[in-house]
Amino acid sequence: MPFQGPDRVADPPTLEAIYHLRAAVWRETGDIAQAAFADGRWSDEHDPASLHWVMRDGAGELVAAARLSVHERLADVPEADEYAAAGLELAGRIASPARVVVAAAARRHGLAWQLLDAQDAAASKAGCAFAVRQSSPAMSRLLRRRGWQDAGLARPDERFPGVRFEVMVLELGR
Ligand SMILES: CC(C)(COP(=O)(O)OP(=O)(O)OC[C@H]1O[C@@H](n2cnc3c(N)ncnc32)[C@H](O)[C@@H]1OP(=O)(O)O)[C@@H](O)C(=O)NCCC(=O)NCCS
Repeated sequence: MPFQGPDRVADPPTLEAIYHLRAAVWRETGDIAQAAFADGRWSDEHDPASLHWVMRDGAGELVAAARLSVHERLADVPEADEYAAAGLELAGRIASPARVVVAAAARRHGLAWQLLDAQDAAASKAGCAFAVRQSSPAMSRLLRRRGWQDAGLARPDERFPGVRFEVMVLELGR
């Protein structure tokens, strides 16, 4: 199946479609709480200032997405308390790659891997010393193959009672 992307996007209609895709993908996994993303979208205050990528299928349907935000200090990263709780102390500019979702019908074609490539390249280009994220088990498998290190289990997230997220760290800029 041919896929297009990853393409950088910033237009409001596509961002809105991404927020809906995030909620739909997670809802379909069955791993989220009934009350989570009740309005059918997942967005937060970091989305407007973040970089976003999408991938589309051969019919042009949005099937995958990812974002990246860049921060001067670890304390400024979204959900910084998770990284503090994990005992991380990282100097330098910090990348926060997040929100990778791939629709079920498009999985296992390497789309997540391509989105991770886009996030890592943008983080390096932005001069980040490290990248941090909280990853689901399926994502952690990919990350370990890409040189990410485990920093322990994240604290439970009530929106995702079925998922044991792990804190992961990648050293960039060497
Ligand atoms: C986790 C997730 C993003 C992975 O997306 P994906 O596009 O299927 O990922 P990839 O295709 O790059 O890799 C998935 C697997 O397919 C394999 N694969 C990749 N291309 C393949 C191909 N052409 N043929 C066969 N297998 C392939 C990969 O090696 C990987 O194997 P693994 O499960 O043993 O690690 C997706 O399952 C998802 O959105 N899940 C729900 C939300 C979620 O967990 N998001 C991550 C939050 S941190």
